[in-house]
Amino acid sequence: MSALISIKNVTKKFKDLTVLDGVNLEINSGEIVYVIGKSGSGKSVLLKNMIRLFKPDEGEIHIDGLDIFKLDEKELIEFRKKTGVLFQMAALFDSLTVFDNVSFTLRRFTKYSKSEIKDIVDEKLALVGLRGYENSWPASLSIGMQKRVGLARAIAMEPKIIFCDEPTTGVDPLLGAAVDDLIKKLNRELGVTVMVISHDMESTFRVAHRVAMLYNGKFEFTGTTEELKNNDNPIVRQFVTGSAHGPMSVI
Ligand SMILES: Nc1ncnc2c1ncn2[C@@H]1O[C@H](COP(=O)(O)OP(=O)(O)O)[C@@H](O)[C@H]1O
Ligand SMILES: [Mg+2]
Repeated sequence: MSALISIKNVTKKFKDLTVLDGVNLEINSGEIVYVIGKSGSGKSVLLKNMIRLFKPDEGEIHIDGLDIFKLDEKELIEFRKKTGVLFQMAALFDSLTVFDNVSFTLRRFTKYSKSEIKDIVDEKLALVGLRGYENSWPASLSIGMQKRVGLARAIAMEPKIIFCDEPTTGVDPLLGAAVDDLIKKLNRELGVTVMVISHDMESTFRVAHRVAMLYNGKFEFTGTTEELKNNDNPIVRQFVTGSAHGPMSVI
């Protein structure tokens, strides 16, 4: 069976800076894959390529049979329906209520009636434990609740795939664990394939099926969490143990 997501030889440069230098990664249906790496290693840039915010200088990205940089209008909508995104710090629309945030893409990309949309939003909010918060404003919610709304929005279209950028960064450990559990639950109960960008090792070991570590524009390591734990590459070890000393420069 071919992979659900296939990143082929992707290179992304900003002027003289080569952020991604021919990266390759395949993600299978139903997997939770963590892309880890230190700050500035290109994790968010990779994710932005995958959702078409950036276009690679070289290489291709295939998602569920679509070459995502060669889509016609109809395929672009299909692509948007297949993928949900949880941005760093949730990135909710502040001027929209929780209901309007979660229903945003439904109203934009589907022909569902008002009552159908209400049912979908109710269901997604229940799934993330926020039933009854439809009329709240994002600013009135805790960061953890905002992340939950962000996840409800990401799954509103019942995508096959969700992309999450640093879901546990900037939240306390308890909240981080709750967000982790929610990602696992969505994977388990909806069968959704998840790609998470993170530098949180605790979260990585708790949630990931497979891990890929970005370093100097390439994947220095790709494997299971068990393989990550036992890997003796000094660069990988340094990152996993969070040591200031080792081959990888810290700043
Ligand atoms: N739009 C941009 N223009 C120029 N450089 C960028 C842009 N976005 C990211 N970069 C650079 O790419 C590198 C990787 O950034 P990023 O992917 O955000 O790192 P992280 O792994 O922390 O998510 C950084 O050096 C950053 O400054
Ligand atoms: Mg980032």
